[in-house]
Amino acid sequence: MALHRHVSGPGGQAKLGMRPQSEFQLPAEVDEVPRLRLGPVGLPPGVAYQVVHDELLLDGNARLNLATFVTTWMDRQADALMAECTSKNVIDKDEYPQIAEIENRCVNILSGLWNASGDEEATGCSTTGSSEACMLGGLALKWSWRQRRIAAGSPADRPNLVMGTNVQVVWEKFCRYWDVEARLVPVGPATHLTAEAAVAHCDENTIGVVAILGSTFDGAYEPVLDIANALDALAAGGGPDVPIHVDAASGGFVAPFIDPDLLWDFRIPRVVSINASGHKYGLVYPGIGWVVWRDASRLPDELVFKVDYLGGEMPTFSLNFSRPGSQVAAQYYNFLRLGFDGYRRVMSACRENARWLAREIGNLGPFELVSEGDGIPAFAFRMHEGVPYTVYDVSEAVRTRGWLIPAYRLPPNLEDIAVLRIVVRDDMSRDLAEDLVEDLRRLIKRLERQPQVMADSPRTGFHH
Ligand SMILES: Cc1ncc(COP(=O)(O)O)c(C=O)c1O
Repeated sequence: MALHRHVSGPGGQAKLGMRPQSEFQLPAEVDEVPRLRLGPVGLPPGVAYQVVHDELLLDGNARLNLATFVTTWMDRQADALMAECTSKNVIDKDEYPQIAEIENRCVNILSGLWNASGDEEATGCSTTGSSEACMLGGLALKWSWRQRRIAAGSPADRPNLVMGTNVQVVWEKFCRYWDVEARLVPVGPATHLTAEAAVAHCDENTIGVVAILGSTFDGAYEPVLDIANALDALAAGGGPDVPIHVDAASGGFVAPFIDPDLLWDFRIPRVVSINASGHKYGLVYPGIGWVVWRDASRLPDELVFKVDYLGGEMPTFSLNFSRPGSQVAAQYYNFLRLGFDGYRRVMSACRENARWLAREIGNLGPFELVSEGDGIPAFAFRMHEGVPYTVYDVSEAVRTRGWLIPAYRLPPNLEDIAVLRIVVRDDMSRDLAEDLVEDLRRLIKRLERQPQVMADSPRTGFHH
């Protein structure tokens, strides 16, 4: 959309009454725009807008980005609310008490959804995403463990955290930044952590076990209940009493609605904290995450800072300070707009579309499914043995139609397996999914005919 072009001339002067200049020959369109240094003078807003807008055309189309779990579509009303709140700083609780109140309501809604006891005010907060939420969950585990060790007169200088090698990179970051040994449990033949392997890696220095509800690699739910039962047995046998943090970045907004009988949340006593990304299946634009503790006793007091709030004090726990209130308002909007049934319908549709797409892709011939969309609505697939092109070729080929499908290797131990992964979100209709299958059908025919394919190294920007 060209803004102001017809009325703004050089220097932003209105040129009403004059013949407009050519749409694409305003000064900033023909002159060089300063890129790495601040220009000596500014541009009129319409021109500056257009320059930035035009450059951004080179980004991929977010709706066709099947690599991301992050929300790429919201209602118009949510857009409006977000625009109304971008100038409100979430941290200014005293100045914007209503955003603070709304954040608090969201924490209570999630705490209830994840089956915390509900006897007291929920303990948790919003964050910029699951990464910050995981850091906060991990810090609470570390501080709690240290308190227990010090109280018992035991050394508290060598903490470790147990998790599968399939964890998202945030957990390795957490361990490096906060000086905790990352005890990475090899996966395989299952693509994720198992109860036996988790327990075998725990000792008295283990601050916790991370279980993932919706593995980033293939969408599978890790067996939280089995892991908890195995840890119960370990403690009952005189071993360490190890808590669980559930990284439900994606699954925290999926399982409660379409897998109500799956035990993974605070119904399991050993689960002390849970994080989720509001900007994934919470259906809010980036960036918002949530972390909730079973109860206040699981969040050590030393980690909580008090900020002014309506003349009183409000507890806060965060790694950063300022950020816009937009995402919090949008999360609450979604809770009101969709309710339980709305989220259930969205998640059911995502799962149905994911399973349908997985089946269709499995039937195309060259692909073998690694997962089928039975956990979070995402699935991974690999090439059948003997197919003369690689997942990287496929990933590159689909880009010619605008689809972004990442190709990558599974974690250590299974790294010989390279896969493609598709995330099905709310905005993927069956109709669009059919287009994707047709494109794949056409592109694999082309790949079969091409004499020199076989790209064998990652060329997609997929990061764990
Ligand atoms: C399991 C898991 N944990 C943590 C994260 C990090 O989440 P965020 O992007 O919200 O910081 C992701 C992101 O994909 C994830 O899949």
